[in-house]
Amino acid sequence: MTTALAVCCALVLAAAVPPVMSSSDAQIPLGQGPNAWRVAISDSWDVLGPFPIHAREQHFLSPSFPLNLSEPIDYGAKWSSAYADTGEVGWSKATSSDGLLEISFPDVRWASLRATEGWAVLQHHAVLRTTITLYPPSERSRFPQDPPQLLVDVIQGSFFAVLPSRSPAELDASAFMPKWHIGNIYAMKASPSNTVALPTVPSLDEPTTYDLFVSGDYEIRLFGDPTVRGSDVPKLSINISARVQPPEPWLQLASDHDVLPTFVSGWAFGDALGVGLRANGDTWTVTRAEVVTGRDSEEVSVALLRETRIEAGQTRVLPLALTQHAAFTRDTLPVALWITRGNGQASTLIVELPVRQIPAWDTDGFEGIVATYLSGGATPTAFVAVPPKEASEEPVAPLLFLHGAGVPVLDLNFWLCAPPRQRHSWLVVPTGRTEWGLDWHGPSTTDAWAALAALPAILSARAEWAPWAYPASTRVVLLGHSNGGQGAWHVAERFPDRVRALVPAAAYMKAQAYVPLLHSRSARFIDPYMRAVLETALTPDDNDLFVSNLVDTPILAIHGGADENVPVWHSRALVDTLKTWNPAANVTFREDPGEPHCYDGAFGDGRTQAFIDASLDAPLALQRPRSFTLTVAIPAESGPLHGFRVLVLWTPGRLARLTVTMGDDGTLAVFSRNVRAIAIHREVLSPETSLSIEGQALPLPHGYASAPYVVARKAADGTWTASTETTIHIQPSGRASAILQSPGALTLVVPDRADGASLSAALRLAHALDVYHKLDSSIVDAREAVALRDGGALDGNVVVLGDARNAFLAETLAAARTAFALRDGRLALEGRVIGRGSSTLFLHPHPTADDAVMMVLFAEDDAALERVLRLFPIRTGITVPDWLVLDSEADAIGAAGVHAAGVWGDGWTMNGGMSSF
Ligand SMILES: *[C@@H]1O[C@H](CO)[C@@H](O)[C@H](O)[C@H]1NC(C)=O
Ligand SMILES: *[C@@H]1O[C@H](CO)[C@@H](O)[C@H](O)[C@H]1NC(C)=O
Ligand SMILES: *[C@@H]1O[C@H](CO)[C@@H](O)[C@H](O)[C@H]1NC(C)=O
Repeated sequence: MTTALAVCCALVLAAAVPPVMSSSDAQIPLGQGPNAWRVAISDSWDVLGPFPIHAREQHFLSPSFPLNLSEPIDYGAKWSSAYADTGEVGWSKATSSDGLLEISFPDVRWASLRATEGWAVLQHHAVLRTTITLYPPSERSRFPQDPPQLLVDVIQGSFFAVLPSRSPAELDASAFMPKWHIGNIYAMKASPSNTVALPTVPSLDEPTTYDLFVSGDYEIRLFGDPTVRGSDVPKLSINISARVQPPEPWLQLASDHDVLPTFVSGWAFGDALGVGLRANGDTWTVTRAEVVTGRDSEEVSVALLRETRIEAGQTRVLPLALTQHAAFTRDTLPVALWITRGNGQASTLIVELPVRQIPAWDTDGFEGIVATYLSGGATPTAFVAVPPKEASEEPVAPLLFLHGAGVPVLDLNFWLCAPPRQRHSWLVVPTGRTEWGLDWHGPSTTDAWAALAALPAILSARAEWAPWAYPASTRVVLLGHSNGGQGAWHVAERFPDRVRALVPAAAYMKAQAYVPLLHSRSARFIDPYMRAVLETALTPDDNDLFVSNLVDTPILAIHGGADENVPVWHSRALVDTLKTWNPAANVTFREDPGEPHCYDGAFGDGRTQAFIDASLDAPLALQRPRSFTLTVAIPAESGPLHGFRVLVLWTPGRLARLTVTMGDDGTLAVFSRNVRAIAIHREVLSPETSLSIEGQALPLPHGYASAPYVVARKAADGTWTASTETTIHIQPSGRASAILQSPGALTLVVPDRADGASLSAALRLAHALDVYHKLDSSIVDAREAVALRDGGALDGNVVVLGDARNAFLAETLAAARTAFALRDGRLALEGRVIGRGSSTLFLHPHPTADDAVMMVLFAEDDAALERVLRLFPIRTGITVPDWLVLDSEADAIGAAGVHAAGVWGDGWTMNGGMSSF
């Protein structure tokens, strides 16, 4: 092949490189011309539905529920559905237009269902089927050797799969296992196309037709309340498009993945730079990066933080550290990349990165600044900073603002439902990793705090900006709108000592209250005890249960009285809960009559600003309340309240509460529920302190005054002891989504690169991690993983796929650090062998790092691998605790197909009280 490299868009090649084709997207034959394969998706769709489902249940059910795609489909058959008159639904037809498929079921009496069930009943699932046809090139001589791959985009659909055609005559699909790809259900902006391998080689002589199945899942949070557009009938809108991937392997810029700081009067606002690249048809490894010599290298230099291998079909962000020596005022930064293709061929290419240059802010004018930092020291990450109008003598605390779902703040166009520029305070606007992130939980919370700490580091690094910095540990005024309003409650409850005041607007309480899970299919089958174990994975999201942590935080909760998106009762209910904990709490609920979901007045109103100003002026000293209760679900995701922190639970999976009463005479009386260890910050202790826990007097340990904490632990016999510790052990897990909290890029370990099913699963997982969280991942085989581990280079979280034939997994499990072990090549839990055909997911200690975790997706066949892959907790609301085992029944009865599940005890022990099997 002569074309070594085809590159897209603003990409120029370095002079010293062997001849390489440079091409724009348009020059590459994407389904055009006589030399190319062509693909067409039929506009005619078969539709089966609607079926009751609760939001996110499609991760447990088969995406083709109620169909088993390994069996013939009877288009005349009827299926039970509680939504339809007569209790049965059949197939119907629909037509898409310009890729857009709109599906509704007007024969269902939605208004009648809704009258008793509310929003919960609008949630539904439908199976959507059409055909996709590949047309061979007309010029035979130009046939590429390999069968083409497709680039498919499914916007607002949950899963899709391409299958061999299923016309009854040629049906031998039973041998074929659908590979479900995750769609871009949130319509995220920076979402590369899914690379889809065709299930069979297409004919060279005539068109070949395949089936395309899409799981259509209506969620209020995605499609909104139909009454807003004057209808009772919920409507799915899914945009489905496909192209043929160009046959020549090529490396493509993914500019929507770039992470670029704004330059303010010629100086970069942050020391991190990310370059998005997508590999097609082969792997590429980037080994080095440099600002192009001769032109600009005196002003700016960059260094690649680690060699980065991009798999065919993968999009990654190259992590670069940026150093600046002098003002840089051009509007592009040329960066040379040294790249090696999978076949060993080396070349260099130059990427012209666009640079946004803005003037310095002043009292009268400013532009939003995109600032960057290296998350976990490894991943380039951006946030928005809005400078204050004036510098102040003493640093003034910043405002931390959490945006609503679907708002891409980096485009600097979010002002309508956001706080205005402040007089003395920075406004820090993190992304939460993406427009949805994890609804401001887990990695999105971490991102918010990291942005807050990154800004003063950026300001302090430059003399002109240093006077504008604030201390990184400062307590903030936390605000949010909609999903971010919910997020503001969530983050403040988990880190109350970091928040001065809270202003949540148009907040919902928690997802399960926003759209109830009433019409869960699984619930008709599952043992309620098992359901309880699974739903412990939702406890950390239950913002109402953690309100006790905010009784001493000033709160102004705002909600439009006519909010059409988040019903106003959510804010009322949270305020009611707070007042129940403390009738004297400093909480104001402002319901703005007649106002909708998003309106200027929420933050623009003078009363909101007066509350913010008063909170900023309030003295920083810790208020000493007489009594408070700290509520915790996952210690690793929760900080202290008034200096008290829960470190370890007695029964993880259950709620922990710590009630502290402070006497004027220095007594500290602590009562605990479900707590094994706590830390008490030195600041709240003095020589006069007389500490008791559960009525048991606990003398402060010697030397406590110079230690950061006093740690108190409860022994099995119920007695407490106190000691001083400099590093504290915090229980690491609690639910499977801990895997998203990675200190660096994730490593996905497949048994062997020749294992097509595992490699495909890993690529699909890497794609979802990128689209949903902008979490970078590298894919390695077992041999490479062993080498990385032994070289101390396995630093981020690890996901291992496969079975006992994955040598890395076998070695890791041999250390017997959890109750899962291999027995004669089979997975066993506490010695009981797990049946073939089951899928097992579990968190496991990371092989080398204390601050990271590992997840095992164990499956012995392709069907089991598909099932466990869908349970990776990519979105909120997927009820996966620390470990579970499920089997094929899940396809039809969802979570009731889980045979065993649990939350680990401290030290990765079996936790009988929170396990079911
Ligand atoms: C659907 O998406 C495709 C590809 O992104 C786009 O070209 C098309 O205009 C979209 N259709 C509609 C109706 O928005
Ligand atoms: C309540 O909080 C506001 C804002 O921080 C503050 O101005 C006000 O004084 C507080 N009220 C009480 C009674 O503490
Ligand atoms: C789907 O059908 C195939 C072929 O009949 C069968 O082997 C398989 O067990 C079925 N799957 C489920 C989950 O019932």
